[in-house]
Amino acid sequence: MEHAIKVTQLRKVFSQHTAIEDISFAVKPGEIFGLLGPSGSGKTTTIKILTGELGQTAGEVNVLDTNARSFGTAAFKSRIGILSDNSSLYERLTVDDNLRLFCKLYDAPLDQIDVMLDEVNLKDARNKVVSKLSKGMKQRVLLAKALIHRPELIFLDEPTSALDPGNMAHIHRGLQKLNEAGTTIFITTHDMEEATELCHRVAFLNNGSIQELGSPEDLRYKYSTHAFHIETFDGERLVIENEAENANEIRDLVASGQVKAIHSDNPTLGQIFLKVTGKELV
Ligand SMILES: Nc1ncnc2c1ncn2[C@@H]1O[C@H](COP(=O)(O)OP(=O)(O)OP(=O)(O)O)[C@@H](O)[C@H]1O
Ligand SMILES: [Mg+2]
Repeated sequence: MEHAIKVTQLRKVFSQHTAIEDISFAVKPGEIFGLLGPSGSGKTTTIKILTGELGQTAGEVNVLDTNARSFGTAAFKSRIGILSDNSSLYERLTVDDNLRLFCKLYDAPLDQIDVMLDEVNLKDARNKVVSKLSKGMKQRVLLAKALIHRPELIFLDEPTSALDPGNMAHIHRGLQKLNEAGTTIFITTHDMEEATELCHRVAFLNNGSIQELGSPEDLRYKYSTHAFHIETFDGERLVIENEAENANEIRDLVASGQVKAIHSDNPTLGQIFLKVTGKELV
């Protein structure tokens, strides 16, 4: 399989409003791909089209070598996992009962429940009734549910937005582990730190258009001013271009023992997003 996801000239129009405007991108098998954008930029709409919940207005969508016409089949559904705003649990049942039901639905072995609860840091809540869980705990049960049948490809729509930093880090480690074992991950977020840490490549979505796409490192290099920022012990701050002709100046400074700190000027993904789209991502 060359691509886990291939989208060509995808467009989605809701009555008069164009939510997605001719976007194209491909996700490689084994990749963690992030779709980044502010509220209303079209992230959830894209995930809904990629998982068969919504039809597209125009363009081609192919997921796991399957055409959008077959996204409704049980065979396709068993190969993907979804965590979205629409994901829900049986509130009056326990965590364990919920996960048992989903195991049955997907024909997954029951011992997966233990594995998944460990992965989302919820072993102690196994026998709790869902309605008594906090928002972040419910989010983690939903994640366990999305992963319980060990899908090849998972779609995560802002999976960590309700989580505290400790649980967020735990989930990130879990996702990285899953990915190392071969799972492809398509994630939306407006958390730029999350994207920088997790994603192999990211696409910037703004008003339904992709405005930049690449690995976080490549983008940070592309938008760098390619200068060194040097701070000396007497408080002087120098900006020296990364050019061969400046080598001696930098060498002399270091040799003088005056350099307190030296760093390159790679902007954060958030700063790049602001530069490219004119919008802050918070
Ligand atoms: N069912 C719908 N009917 C009409 N318009 C819709 C529908 N779903 C989404 N939209 C519109 O499409 C645009 C993109 O919405 P979408 O939910 O995809 O954004 P998002 O990037 O997921 O935002 P958020 O970060 O707030 O979740 C918005 O202008 C929204 O109002
Ligand atoms: Mg959304």
